[in-house]
Amino acid sequence: MEKLLYTGKAKQMWQTDDPEVLRVVYMDQATALNGKKKDRFAGKGAAAKGISDLVFHYLIDHGIPTHFIKQVSSTEDLVKKCQMFPLEFVTRNVVAGHFASRYGLDEGTVLTEPVEETFYKSDQLDDPFINESATLALDIASHADLEEMWGHCRKVNGLLKPLFEKSGMQLVDFKLEFGRLSNGQIVLADEFSPDNCRLWDLQTDQHLDKDVYRRQLADLTQTYDEVLNRLQNVLAEEN
Ligand SMILES: Nc1ncnc2c1ncn2[C@@H]1O[C@H](COP(=O)(O)OP(=O)(O)O)[C@@H](O)[C@H]1O
Ligand SMILES: [Mg+2]
Repeated sequence: MEKLLYTGKAKQMWQTDDPEVLRVVYMDQATALNGKKKDRFAGKGAAAKGISDLVFHYLIDHGIPTHFIKQVSSTEDLVKKCQMFPLEFVTRNVVAGHFASRYGLDEGTVLTEPVEETFYKSDQLDDPFINESATLALDIASHADLEEMWGHCRKVNGLLKPLFEKSGMQLVDFKLEFGRLSNGQIVLADEFSPDNCRLWDLQTDQHLDKDVYRRQLADLTQTYDEVLNRLQNVLAEEN
C-alpha cells in the first residue's frame, strides 16, 4: 500500500511497494516567504516537473549521479529514496535576492567567481545560514561529504550555465539538495526548477522564475511553460 510520507511546499513524497523507491507528486501550488504566502496555480506542477526532468536527464547524461528513475505521469516521477542531508547548497553567479539585501548590493552585478553558500534546511528556523565548522560539529555531514557535494554543484553550474544561455536565459543562482542511497552513494536529489533557481531573460532581463510570484510580476504557470519550451527547443537541437 502506498503511504504519504511527506507533504512539502511544492511536492508530495509517497512510499511505494519498493522500500527503495518513492513517488514524487508535483503539486499545483507555489509558496513564498517560507510558506507564509501560498497560492494555487493550475498547470504549475506539470511545468515544474517537466523542467526538472529535462535538467536531471541532461545532468545524468553528463555524469552527475541523481535520484531520478523515471516519470510516471505529467506530474509524477519515481525516484530513489534517499537519506537527505538537511542542507541547501546555493550557488550564485549574479547578485540577487537575499545576497543583495544582506550585503546592500544592487541586483544584477555579475560576481567575479561563483559564491557558494550552505543553509540548514529547517522551516521552523527559516533555513538559517550554516558554515562548514557548524556542519561538522553538528554531525550533519563530513568534510569529505561536503567536498563531494560541492564538487557536484560546480559541475552542475558548469553544465547548466551554458545550457540556459543557449536557451536565452542567464542562470543567476540555484539551490541543490543531496541525499545518500542505501548503498552509501551520495546523489543529487529533490528537483531543479524555477522554484529553486533564478533565470533572467538574456535580452530583456525579464524574470523567468518564482520571483514572478514573490514579486507579483507575471503569471507563474505561463512563465514556467516558457522556460520548459525554451529548454525543449535547445535540447531538441542538441540531439
Ligand atoms: N530522493 C529523495 N528521497 C527522500 N527525500 C527526498 C528525495 N528528494 C527530495 N526529498 C525531500 O522531499 C521533500 C520534497 O518536497 P518539497 O515540497 O520540495 O519540500 P520542502 O517544502 O521541504 O522543500 C523535501 O523535503 C526534500 O528534501
Ligand atoms: Mg523543496
